[in-house]
Order: sequence, then C-alpha cells, then structure tokens
Amino acid sequence: MFRGQADAYDRFVGRYSARLAAELVEFAGVPAGARAVDVGCGPGGLTAVLAERLGAANVAAADPSEPFVQACRARNPGVEVVVAAAEALPFDGAAFDVALSQLVVNFMKDAQAGVREMARVTAPGGTVASCVWDYGGEMTLLATYWKAAREVTGERGAHADEGAVMKWSGEGELAVLWETCGLRDVRSDALTVSASYDGFEDLWAPLPSGVGPAGAFCASLPEDERAALHDAYRELLGVGDEPFELTARAWAAAGTR
Ligand SMILES: C[S@@+](CC[C@H](N)C(=O)[O-])C[C@H]1O[C@@H](n2cnc3c(N)ncnc32)[C@H](O)[C@@H]1O
Repeated sequence: MFRGQADAYDRFVGRYSARLAAELVEFAGVPAGARAVDVGCGPGGLTAVLAERLGAANVAAADPSEPFVQACRARNPGVEVVVAAAEALPFDGAAFDVALSQLVVNFMKDAQAGVREMARVTAPGGTVASCVWDYGGEMTLLATYWKAAREVTGERGAHADEGAVMKWSGEGELAVLWETCGLRDVRSDALTVSASYDGFEDLWAPLPSGVGPAGAFCASLPEDERAALHDAYRELLGVGDEPFELTARAWAAAGTR
C-alpha cells in the first residue's frame, strides 16, 4: 500500500521533483556542511537531493502522510524522517541551517503557522525557502488538465481547479507570506523544469488512481465523463502516442531567519 501511493505520485507530479529540488537548492543557496530539513517531504525527492549534497546525517524530513514518510525513509537511509505537519514540527529551535519545502505551502492548513515553524527550527542567519507550482499559468500538466476538466464538466471542474483554489500560487505571493512571517532579505524567482513522457497514456495512467487533487477529481467522475476528460486533455496538450516533454514553472521565495 505504501509503495502504491508513492509510485502513483512518482508517475504524476513526482516526475518533476528531482529536477525542481536541484533548482530549489540552488536558489536557496544551501551551503556545504549545512544541516537541513525538508518539510512536507512526500516520497523524498528533495530529501534525496539534500542528502546527496550534505550527507544523510545532516538531513531531516517531515510529512503528515504515513505512506509518504515510509517511502521517504526507504529511499533515504540515514535521514531522520518523522510523521509531522509543518504547523507543529517536532524539532528543537534553531536545529537547522536551512529549512526547505517543495510544493507544500499551498497544502498547509495554516500556512503562516507552518512557515513560522520552519523559521523557528532554523538558526538565526539561516535560510527558509519554498516553492509552489504556478498552477493557473505555466505548470502545463495541471493547468491544461483543469482547462480540459472545465470544458468537460463545467462548474464542477471550475470549482475544483487548482489554479483557482490553491493559495500562495500567484507570482510574488510566497514572498509576501515570507515577509509576514518575519523573514528578512526576502527574494523570489521562477523555477522552470521539464519532464519526459513516453506518450499521452504514460501521462494519464496515474490519474484514475486518485493521486493528488487532479486525480481525486478524475476518480470521482462517472466513466463516460472520465473518458471525455481523457480525450479533451490529450487534444488540448496536442500530444499522442509519441514521446514528448512538458515544462512546469514554480514560484519560489527565500528569506533569512
Ligand atoms: C505535492 S506533495 C510534495 C512532496 C515533495 N515535497 C515533492 O516535492 O515531491 C505535497 C506534500 O505536502 C504534504 N503536506 C500536506 N499538508 C501538509 C502540512 N500541513 N505540513 C507539511 N506537509 C504537508 C503532503 O502529505 C505531501 O507529501
């Protein structure tokens, strides 16, 4: 069961995680020898990049999802991985030099509390940084999916559209949150990455399993609407059975504790 959830994630948004993590680590400026925490680690794409750079013993990770924590532990031996939400991190104050989270702030129940916790566990002078998909814009996989969902299901698609419902996903919004949470020298940037697909069915396969908000919407549809969504999505992407690449943009913010 644990592997199932992580595998579906890997085939869906997780396909971008390693490349995005490399960009986020670069943007945040993680120095050699730093101690770092990955908040909302999921199956551990960012955790792995941090462990590779800093050594597993200098990296910790947290996620409220037990299946993802199990997957992250299995993939990152030696990293301390705990079941916890950002809003209540079980780490001492100033325990890390860097606190990062990738594609998580928009899922937090209380983003201010979560970012303040990330700041609390970061030593003075250390860095807190995150990124969130540009859901309504240049995150091609999701923006095109929801366009197709609106075409096929009208109001239902419009209500579930992550481009409309995800907070902190507009340009500059994370930076405002960082300032509100008392971080200094706040800077922001766009991080753009790409992922490869064997063909449209490779992209579509994880969606009916219910992965993420897009998959949950897909799984909730009756069979005829799901088939119509499949066809509309493929048409809007303009792809077929041949290999292709999609690009995805995330907005990032970093600040000093
Ligand atoms: C899109 S995934 C990102 C996973 C991973 N960081 C990556 O880049 O692949 C969002 C993650 O946020 C986690 N999450 C949801 N609510 C959270 C919260 N309040 N605090 C921390 N993580 C949370 C989910 O369990 C999930 O693993």
